[in-house]
Amino acid sequence: MTKSLVSLFAAIALVNAQGGFVPLIDKKFTWDNIPYKVDTDVGLVRGDQVGYNRCNSSTEGPTSLCQTAIINSLDDFCLWAPPEAGKTVGEIEGEMIAWCSQPGHGTRIFPDGAITGVQFTKTPDYVQVVGFMNQTKINMVAGDPGGEMDPHGADQRGNPIGGILFTNAWTGTYVQANEYHNFMGSNQFCLKACDPTKGHAADYCQHIYDTQGCGFNAPSNAKDGVFESCAGDSQAFPGAGVAVPASSQCSTFASTAIYGAGATTTAAIPGASTISFSTTPRPKPTASSSAQSSGSASGSKSSTAPSASSTSGAMLSKGSVTIAAFLISVFAMFTLL
Ligand SMILES: *[C@@H]1O[C@H](CO)[C@@H](O)[C@H](O)[C@H]1NC(C)=O
Ligand SMILES: *[C@@H]1O[C@H](CO)[C@@H](O)[C@H](O)[C@H]1NC(C)=O
Repeated sequence: MTKSLVSLFAAIALVNAQGGFVPLIDKKFTWDNIPYKVDTDVGLVRGDQVGYNRCNSSTEGPTSLCQTAIINSLDDFCLWAPPEAGKTVGEIEGEMIAWCSQPGHGTRIFPDGAITGVQFTKTPDYVQVVGFMNQTKINMVAGDPGGEMDPHGADQRGNPIGGILFTNAWTGTYVQANEYHNFMGSNQFCLKACDPTKGHAADYCQHIYDTQGCGFNAPSNAKDGVFESCAGDSQAFPGAGVAVPASSQCSTFASTAIYGAGATTTAAIPGASTISFSTTPRPKPTASSSAQSSGSASGSKSSTAPSASSTSGAMLSKGSVTIAAFLISVFAMFTLL
């Protein structure tokens, strides 16, 4: 037993020394230098990265496995969701892929009616979208309380493995948001990209409260049925209070004006009026890939902010999967030794 343990630790040390493992959070890319796969580690417990990060018109559509997400504005953002239906977020968080509100990013596109209300806010420290969805339309299990995607995870390979995020909302050109968190579950979502040039990106995009959901990690004034783009104050760091920060200068839109084949409007970002955007023109959506939602700016659905308890069920499944994977790997190593 003692000898086996020594061998086990020696084997682990060897893997670490030879592998040159780099945590996802330390992998930094410019927009024109994104690798085919961000995660090239092989033979680790959770397997290989399922998708890719270099995404283009040939990868776009319903079979895309693009794992590079974008958050630019109310009308142009992505979320991570499962590649196929039938598994909960807790079971498949390492394999989540990007689904976006617009074509042009090489991803899947939200189907009509998937997104039913969104508040986009740009604060001094981050940009975020918080909102409501019919999660079954993006391969999530009905009623799944979900979980958190972030560039950390127990093995530091991220969830999804190799998931990276870019935005043009800070400078007008795409920059990577190394620190992000994205909660998906109970028909609610939030995605926050924390500005690496400000002092507290890791604090605002804290990843340790993964069972707490959007109300705790990204308190907002989002309302189901309302699509609005706002300036906002920065919230308290997650864990330091759930007071909803003030939002201001909000513009509201009909969903049909900003999403889908008939979209005509690009939602302005308050506070970004001095930025000149050098984006490539966005392709027009086709009927089969549109993201038109059934909601509208004047909708009268009930307005509850995503609740703090919405993902309370996620920890169990997520924790058990992680512990089970660890036990299996330890068992496997002992069997080999
Ligand atoms: C498009 O992306 C795929 C997947 O990353 C890649 O294999 C292919 O070479 C890319 N095509 C172009 C024209 O860049
Ligand atoms: C959610 O989407 C599913 C699949 O399209 C649909 O059957 C269901 O009625 C939708 N739920 C709501 C509340 O719109």
